[in-house]
Amino acid sequence: LSVVVLAGGISHERDVSLRSGRRVADELAAAGHRVTLLDPGAGTLATILEAGPDVVWPALHGASGEDGALQALLGARGIHYLGSGPHAASLAWSKPTAKILVDRAGIKTAPWISMPRETFRELGAGGVIVELAAAVGTPSVVKPAQGGSAQGVTIVADESDLPRALVDAYTYSDVALVEQKIEGTELAISIIDTGDGPEALPAVEIEPVSGVYSFEARYNAGETTFYAPARVSDEVAARASEVALQVHQVLGLRHVSRIDVIVDAAGEVWFLEANMIPGTTETSLFPQAIEAAGRSLADTYGALAEFAAR
Ligand code: DAL
Ligand code: MG
Repeated sequence: LSVVVLAGGISHERDVSLRSGRRVADELAAAGHRVTLLDPGAGTLATILEAGPDVVWPALHGASGEDGALQALLGARGIHYLGSGPHAASLAWSKPTAKILVDRAGIKTAPWISMPRETFRELGAGGVIVELAAAVGTPSVVKPAQGGSAQGVTIVADESDLPRALVDAYTYSDVALVEQKIEGTELAISIIDTGDGPEALPAVEIEPVSGVYSFEARYNAGETTFYAPARVSDEVAARASEVALQVHQVLGLRHVSRIDVIVDAAGEVWFLEANMIPGTTETSLFPQAIEAAGRSLADTYGALAEFAAR
């Protein structure tokens, strides 16, 4: 196949995307495909049309690539690409929207409230603390409604830290999501579909050395201990896989995704978020899940590209 891998872009996760893209390009080349690595810009669509690849692999993270705009452009020009279509991408990219849909499907997700920047401005810091304390309580997790790689995410133990956490979240998104912190084990369940329907790979358990799976803990080797497969009972692993597959389906995701969850002390699975272009860097969860399934990255990425090219 001839494959264009898109990496970089202009989102806050640009550097992560460059790392993801390089890894994917190397593996696809190892699988025998002809790969062109492109950093998308204004002229990219023309370049892709000229190159006429069999398939585009958007290894893009963040707003430039995960919000569905790029997918709409590619689709309109009849270009085959890996991953979800524009509609599913925009649903998954909005954390509050994804939580609403997942909740309606009967899957547990932590109680939350959306706090737009404008509402914060109207209520002021004192008003915001009162409102959030009543709606969510502490400890809570404040995150940008749209974002990735834990950028702008703060775990808030003390109510007085809420305004500051919100301001940080607004760096990345005009709406902040404030949710109750569910205590438990964080698992990531990667989903792949190489033509036989979506399949959940072994769950990967995340144990950050600092206790918080921050940006640094994600992308510096040694700052997080990963267990692949996760150290959970077969029953919990099966339930987590079932939840992940259900989320993938409810949001209408395609080819690949990674569904992040928390398993609490009672073994209940709580949905955190859906990632429609999971990271594929050296320290990312998605490649670890593939290897935990006993498969090679080159073969799996190759099979995904082949399916997406159809
Ligand atoms: N947003 C990062 C890249 C991930 O989901 O892995
Ligand atoms: Mg994410």
